[in-house]
Amino acid sequence: MSRGKFITLEGIDGAGKSTHLAWLADLIQSRGETVLTTREPGGTSLGERLRELLLHEPMQPAAETLLMFAARAEHVATVIEPALAKGMWVISDRFTDASYAYQSGGRGVSWDKIAILENWVQGDLQPDLTLLFDVPVNLARQRLAQSGNPPDRFELQQKEFFERVRTAYLARAAAFPGRVKVIDSSKAHSAVQTQIEHLILEQQCPR
Ligand code: TYD
Repeated sequence: MSRGKFITLEGIDGAGKSTHLAWLADLIQSRGETVLTTREPGGTSLGERLRELLLHEPMQPAAETLLMFAARAEHVATVIEPALAKGMWVISDRFTDASYAYQSGGRGVSWDKIAILENWVQGDLQPDLTLLFDVPVNLARQRLAQSGNPPDRFELQQKEFFERVRTAYLARAAAFPGRVKVIDSSKAHSAVQTQIEHLILEQQCPR
């Protein structure tokens, strides 16, 4: 059996990635694949408990980075790798690019330290495709405010924090143009979905 594909969704809070997750899973399923959707931090029993701490408990940037990777270690070993090995397509709402964007870009932890943890926890595992939902920070903040959900520790950050996170995400896309595809998420839903459909088709029928 051939190995499944690993797709990750990224973007600053309020960029709209979660809105497209269920639709994307349906799209891939309708093309005959078995899909597992999951999220980070989270995706396992341990990961979901760490998520509670990460989203609500004040902590140092180093502790935040290490806990993100602790959750990821469990997630990769017990959920992501086994599913891919069974031929399933795995869609994760965030993965390691978020650590480069938030912990490095946002909090100032060095890119090199994140790379060491990435290498330890993931080995050779990288997403086959990363959809980076990109919007100007002001628009993302408006969307968050309109959602009516109580903000978590990250969503309470100032505009400058999200500007740095966005810049770091775009740097990831520039560094890995074959894997990370920037989606203009300020466009209408239908236009965003058309962009995504093309990228998924390329995964199924690589040129
Ligand atoms: P998010 O995925 O936006 O979930 P929700 O839509 O429920 O708010 O929330 C997860 C938060 O965790 C988000 O603000 C980004 C942050 N995060 C990091 O800082 N580093 C990481 O490595 C990951 C996976 C997430």
